[in-house]
Amino acid sequence: MAPRLLLALALWAGYSPCSGREALPQPRVWCWAFRYPIAVDCFWTLPPAANSTRSTSFIATYRRGVAAHGESQPCLQPTPEATSCTIPDVHMFSMVPYMLNITVVHPWGISSSFVPFIPEHIIKPDPPEGVRLSLLHGQQLWVQWEPPKSWPFPEIFSLKYWIRYKRHGAARFRKVGPIEGTSFTLRTVRPRVKYCIQVAAQDFTDYGESSNWSLPATTSVTLGK
Ligand SMILES: *[C@@H]1O[C@H](CO)[C@@H](O)[C@H](O)[C@H]1NC(C)=O
Ligand SMILES: *[C@@H]1O[C@H](CO)[C@@H](O)[C@H](O)[C@H]1NC(C)=O
Ligand SMILES: *[C@@H]1O[C@H](CO)[C@@H](O)[C@H](O)[C@H]1NC(C)=O
Repeated sequence: MAPRLLLALALWAGYSPCSGREALPQPRVWCWAFRYPIAVDCFWTLPPAANSTRSTSFIATYRRGVAAHGESQPCLQPTPEATSCTIPDVHMFSMVPYMLNITVVHPWGISSSFVPFIPEHIIKPDPPEGVRLSLLHGQQLWVQWEPPKSWPFPEIFSLKYWIRYKRHGAARFRKVGPIEGTSFTLRTVRPRVKYCIQVAAQDFTDYGESSNWSLPATTSVTLGK
Protein backbone atom coordinates (compact mmCIF):
# COMPACT_ATOMS: atom_id res chain seq x y z
CA MET A 1 0.00 0.00 0.00
CA ALA A 2 2.82 2.36 0.89
CA PRO A 3 4.52 2.08 -2.53
CA ARG A 4 1.19 2.73 -4.21
CA LEU A 5 0.72 5.89 -2.19
CA LEU A 6 4.24 6.99 -3.06
CA LEU A 7 3.53 6.41 -6.74
CA ALA A 8 0.36 8.46 -6.50
CA LEU A 9 2.25 11.28 -4.82
CA ALA A 10 4.96 11.13 -7.46
CA LEU A 11 2.38 11.33 -10.26
CA TRP A 12 0.60 14.20 -8.57
CA ALA A 13 3.90 16.05 -8.13
CA GLY A 14 4.72 15.38 -11.76
CA TYR A 15 1.59 17.18 -12.92
CA SER A 16 2.11 20.31 -10.88
CA PRO A 17 3.20 23.25 -13.03
CA CYS A 18 6.91 23.90 -12.71
CA SER A 19 7.70 25.63 -15.95
CA GLY A 20 7.42 29.03 -14.23
CA ARG A 21 4.60 30.06 -16.55
CA GLU A 22 1.69 29.89 -14.14
CA ALA A 23 -1.13 32.31 -14.89
CA LEU A 24 -0.44 35.75 -13.51
CA PRO A 25 -3.08 37.02 -11.07
CA GLN A 26 -5.84 39.04 -12.71
CA PRO A 27 -7.28 42.13 -11.04
CA ARG A 28 -10.98 42.21 -10.29
CA VAL A 29 -12.30 45.44 -11.83
CA TRP A 30 -15.56 47.31 -11.52
CA CYS A 31 -16.76 50.71 -12.77
CA TRP A 32 -19.55 53.00 -11.53
CA ALA A 33 -21.08 56.16 -12.92
CA PHE A 34 -22.02 57.77 -9.59
CA ARG A 35 -21.35 61.26 -10.99
CA TYR A 36 -22.95 60.81 -14.39
CA PRO A 37 -22.37 62.38 -16.89
CA ILE A 38 -19.14 63.98 -15.68
CA ALA A 39 -17.05 60.83 -15.37
CA VAL A 40 -16.93 57.09 -14.88
CA ASP A 41 -14.82 55.85 -11.97
CA CYS A 42 -13.21 52.42 -11.95
CA PHE A 43 -11.68 50.45 -9.09
CA TRP A 44 -9.81 47.16 -8.83
CA THR A 45 -8.29 44.74 -6.39
CA LEU A 46 -5.81 41.93 -6.74
CA PRO A 47 -6.23 38.50 -5.17
CA PRO A 48 -4.65 38.73 -1.68
CA ALA A 49 -1.78 36.39 -2.56
CA ALA A 50 -0.75 38.68 -5.39
CA ASN A 51 -0.79 41.73 -3.18
CA SER A 52 2.30 40.90 -1.13
CA THR A 53 4.72 42.64 -3.41
CA ARG A 54 5.18 46.35 -3.10
CA SER A 55 6.41 46.81 -6.64
CA THR A 56 3.09 46.25 -8.43
CA SER A 57 1.84 49.08 -10.61
CA PHE A 58 -0.96 49.42 -13.13
CA ILE A 59 -1.54 50.81 -16.61
CA ALA A 60 -5.16 51.86 -17.09
CA THR A 61 -6.41 52.66 -20.58
CA TYR A 62 -9.71 52.60 -22.38
CA ARG A 63 -11.05 52.85 -25.87
CA ARG A 64 -14.50 53.11 -27.35
CA GLY A 65 -15.66 50.20 -29.44
CA VAL A 66 -14.55 46.61 -29.29
CA ALA A 67 -12.18 46.76 -32.27
CA ALA A 68 -8.69 45.98 -30.95
CA HIS A 69 -7.09 48.60 -33.20
CA GLY A 70 -9.09 51.48 -31.74
CA GLU A 71 -7.16 54.36 -30.25
CA SER A 72 -6.48 54.03 -26.50
CA GLN A 73 -6.83 56.87 -24.04
CA PRO A 74 -5.46 56.88 -20.50
CA CYS A 75 -7.91 56.23 -17.69
CA LEU A 76 -6.57 58.84 -15.27
CA GLN A 77 -4.74 57.41 -12.23
CA PRO A 78 -3.54 59.51 -9.29
CA THR A 79 -0.35 57.38 -9.21
CA PRO A 80 0.73 54.25 -11.12
CA GLU A 81 0.25 52.25 -7.88
CA ALA A 82 -3.30 53.51 -7.29
CA THR A 83 -6.11 50.98 -7.64
CA SER A 84 -8.60 53.37 -9.23
CA CYS A 85 -8.87 55.53 -12.31
CA THR A 86 -11.26 58.03 -13.88
CA ILE A 87 -12.60 58.29 -17.41
CA PRO A 88 -13.43 61.98 -17.74
CA ASP A 89 -15.05 61.81 -21.15
CA VAL A 90 -18.51 60.27 -21.14
CA HIS A 91 -20.32 59.95 -24.46
CA MET A 92 -23.95 59.99 -23.44
CA PHE A 93 -26.57 57.66 -24.89
CA SER A 94 -24.14 56.00 -27.25
CA MET A 95 -24.45 52.30 -27.94
CA VAL A 96 -20.70 52.07 -28.60
CA PRO A 97 -19.31 50.35 -25.50
CA TYR A 98 -16.25 51.49 -23.64
CA MET A 99 -13.54 48.90 -23.13
CA LEU A 100 -11.36 49.39 -20.06
CA ASN A 101 -7.97 47.67 -19.98
CA ILE A 102 -6.32 47.33 -16.57
CA THR A 103 -2.82 45.93 -16.95
CA VAL A 104 -0.97 44.76 -13.84
CA VAL A 105 2.78 45.23 -14.08
CA HIS A 106 4.36 42.64 -11.77
CA PRO A 107 8.09 42.28 -11.37
CA TRP A 108 7.74 38.97 -13.25
CA GLY A 109 5.38 39.93 -16.06
CA ILE A 110 2.18 41.71 -17.02
CA SER A 111 -1.46 40.62 -17.18
CA SER A 112 -4.51 42.52 -18.40
CA SER A 113 -8.19 42.51 -17.49
CA PHE A 114 -10.87 44.01 -19.70
CA VAL A 115 -14.18 45.49 -18.68
CA PRO A 116 -16.73 46.51 -21.32
CA PHE A 117 -19.47 48.92 -20.30
CA ILE A 118 -22.00 51.47 -21.50
CA PRO A 119 -22.08 54.47 -19.12
CA GLU A 120 -25.88 54.56 -18.71
CA HIS A 121 -25.89 50.90 -17.72
CA ILE A 122 -23.49 51.39 -14.81
CA ILE A 123 -25.18 54.41 -13.25
CA LYS A 124 -25.38 53.91 -9.50
CA PRO A 125 -25.80 57.10 -7.48
CA ASP A 126 -24.35 57.48 -4.02
CA PRO A 127 -26.96 57.27 -1.26
CA PRO A 128 -29.10 60.34 -0.47
CA GLU A 129 -27.81 62.55 2.34
CA GLY A 130 -29.14 64.46 5.28
CA VAL A 131 -32.14 62.25 5.99
CA ARG A 132 -34.19 63.89 8.72
CA LEU A 133 -37.52 63.19 10.33
CA SER A 134 -40.18 65.40 11.82
CA LEU A 135 -43.38 64.53 13.49
CA LEU A 136 -46.57 65.96 11.99
CA HIS A 137 -49.96 65.98 13.66
CA GLY A 138 -48.92 63.41 16.21
CA GLN A 139 -48.98 60.33 14.01
CA GLN A 140 -47.38 61.23 10.71
CA LEU A 141 -43.70 61.24 9.99
CA TRP A 142 -42.28 63.74 7.53
CA VAL A 143 -39.09 62.37 5.94
CA GLN A 144 -36.80 64.83 4.13
CA TRP A 145 -33.46 64.29 2.40
CA GLU A 146 -31.05 65.72 -0.15
CA PRO A 147 -29.72 64.21 -3.38
CA PRO A 148 -26.18 62.82 -3.04
CA LYS A 149 -23.66 65.67 -3.34
CA SER A 150 -21.68 63.63 -5.85
CA TRP A 151 -24.61 63.66 -8.33
CA PRO A 152 -23.68 66.76 -10.34
CA PHE A 153 -26.89 67.88 -12.07
CA PRO A 154 -29.96 66.73 -10.15
CA GLU A 155 -32.09 69.32 -11.98
CA ILE A 156 -31.20 67.87 -15.40
CA PHE A 157 -30.65 64.20 -14.63
CA SER A 158 -33.40 63.75 -12.10
CA LEU A 159 -33.34 61.11 -9.43
CA LYS A 160 -36.24 59.24 -7.95
CA TYR A 161 -36.22 57.81 -4.46
CA TRP A 162 -37.28 54.86 -2.36
CA ILE A 163 -37.90 54.83 1.36
CA ARG A 164 -37.70 51.77 3.53
CA TYR A 165 -38.72 51.82 7.15
CA LYS A 166 -39.35 49.47 10.01
CA ARG A 167 -40.35 49.56 13.61
CA HIS A 168 -37.53 49.18 16.09
CA GLY A 169 -36.97 45.45 16.54
CA ALA A 170 -39.07 44.40 13.52
CA ALA A 171 -37.49 41.91 11.12
CA ARG A 172 -38.73 43.30 7.82
CA PHE A 173 -38.65 46.69 6.16
CA ARG A 174 -41.59 48.17 4.31
CA LYS A 175 -40.74 49.91 1.07
CA VAL A 176 -42.36 53.01 -0.42
CA GLY A 177 -41.69 54.51 -3.85
CA PRO A 178 -40.78 55.63 -6.35
CA ILE A 179 -40.96 59.17 -4.96
CA GLU A 180 -40.23 62.11 -7.25
CA GLY A 181 -39.48 64.79 -4.66
CA THR A 182 -37.08 64.92 -1.74
CA SER A 183 -39.62 64.50 1.03
CA PHE A 184 -42.42 62.14 1.87
CA THR A 185 -44.98 61.78 4.64
CA LEU A 186 -45.40 58.35 6.19
CA ARG A 187 -48.99 58.25 7.38
CA THR A 188 -49.20 54.84 8.90
CA VAL A 189 -46.76 55.19 11.76
CA ARG A 190 -47.87 53.79 15.07
CA PRO A 191 -47.71 55.93 18.18
CA ARG A 192 -45.16 55.16 20.89
CA VAL A 193 -42.99 53.12 18.51
CA LYS A 194 -39.47 53.92 17.31
CA TYR A 195 -38.80 53.77 13.57
CA CYS A 196 -35.66 53.27 11.51
CA ILE A 197 -35.79 54.93 8.07
CA GLN A 198 -33.46 54.82 5.05
CA VAL A 199 -33.65 56.38 1.59
CA ALA A 200 -32.17 55.22 -1.74
CA ALA A 201 -31.77 57.11 -5.03
CA GLN A 202 -32.16 55.87 -8.59
CA ASP A 203 -31.83 57.47 -11.99
CA PHE A 204 -35.25 58.78 -12.94
CA THR A 205 -35.30 56.94 -16.26
CA ASP A 206 -34.30 53.60 -14.68
CA TYR A 207 -30.79 53.44 -16.05
CA GLY A 208 -28.35 51.42 -14.02
CA GLU A 209 -29.18 50.47 -10.48
CA SER A 210 -30.41 52.10 -7.37
CA SER A 211 -28.00 53.50 -4.78
CA ASN A 212 -27.21 51.80 -1.51
CA TRP A 213 -29.51 52.72 1.33
CA SER A 214 -28.62 55.92 3.17
CA LEU A 215 -27.43 55.87 6.74
CA PRO A 216 -30.44 55.07 8.91
CA ALA A 217 -32.36 57.90 10.53
CA THR A 218 -34.28 56.94 13.66
CA THR A 219 -37.08 58.66 15.48
CA SER A 220 -35.32 59.99 18.56
CA VAL A 221 -38.45 60.65 20.55
CA THR A 222 -41.24 58.19 20.87
CA LEU A 223 -44.04 59.23 18.58
CA GLY A 224 -47.47 60.13 19.76
CA LYS A 225 -46.54 62.02 22.91
C1 LIG B 1 -3.29 45.61 -1.29
O1 LIG B 1 -3.59 45.62 0.09
C2 LIG B 1 -3.70 46.92 0.65
C3 LIG B 1 -3.95 46.78 2.13
O2 LIG B 1 -3.62 45.52 2.60
C4 LIG B 1 -4.83 47.67 -0.04
O3 LIG B 1 -4.90 48.99 0.49
C5 LIG B 1 -4.55 47.75 -1.52
O4 LIG B 1 -5.66 48.37 -2.16
C6 LIG B 1 -4.37 46.35 -2.09
N1 LIG B 1 -3.98 46.46 -3.50
C7 LIG B 1 -4.61 45.79 -4.47
C8 LIG B 1 -4.08 46.03 -5.83
O5 LIG B 1 -5.55 45.03 -4.28
C1 LIG C 1 -3.90 46.64 -22.66
O1 LIG C 1 -2.95 47.56 -22.16
C2 LIG C 1 -1.61 47.10 -22.21
C3 LIG C 1 -0.73 48.15 -21.52
O2 LIG C 1 -0.93 49.43 -22.10
C4 LIG C 1 -1.20 46.87 -23.67
O3 LIG C 1 0.11 46.38 -23.70
C5 LIG C 1 -2.17 45.87 -24.28
O4 LIG C 1 -1.88 45.73 -25.66
C6 LIG C 1 -3.60 46.33 -24.12
N1 LIG C 1 -4.48 45.27 -24.61
C7 LIG C 1 -5.43 45.51 -25.53
C8 LIG C 1 -6.22 44.33 -25.98
O5 LIG C 1 -5.65 46.62 -25.94
C1 LIG D 1 -22.79 49.62 -1.21
O1 LIG D 1 -22.90 48.51 -0.38
C2 LIG D 1 -21.99 47.46 -0.70
C3 LIG D 1 -22.34 46.25 0.14
O2 LIG D 1 -22.67 46.62 1.44
C4 LIG D 1 -20.56 47.96 -0.46
O3 LIG D 1 -19.64 46.95 -0.77
C5 LIG D 1 -20.32 49.17 -1.35
O4 LIG D 1 -19.05 49.71 -1.07
C6 LIG D 1 -21.39 50.23 -1.12
N1 LIG D 1 -21.26 51.24 -2.15
C7 LIG D 1 -21.32 52.55 -1.88
C8 LIG D 1 -21.20 53.45 -3.06
O5 LIG D 1 -21.46 52.98 -0.76
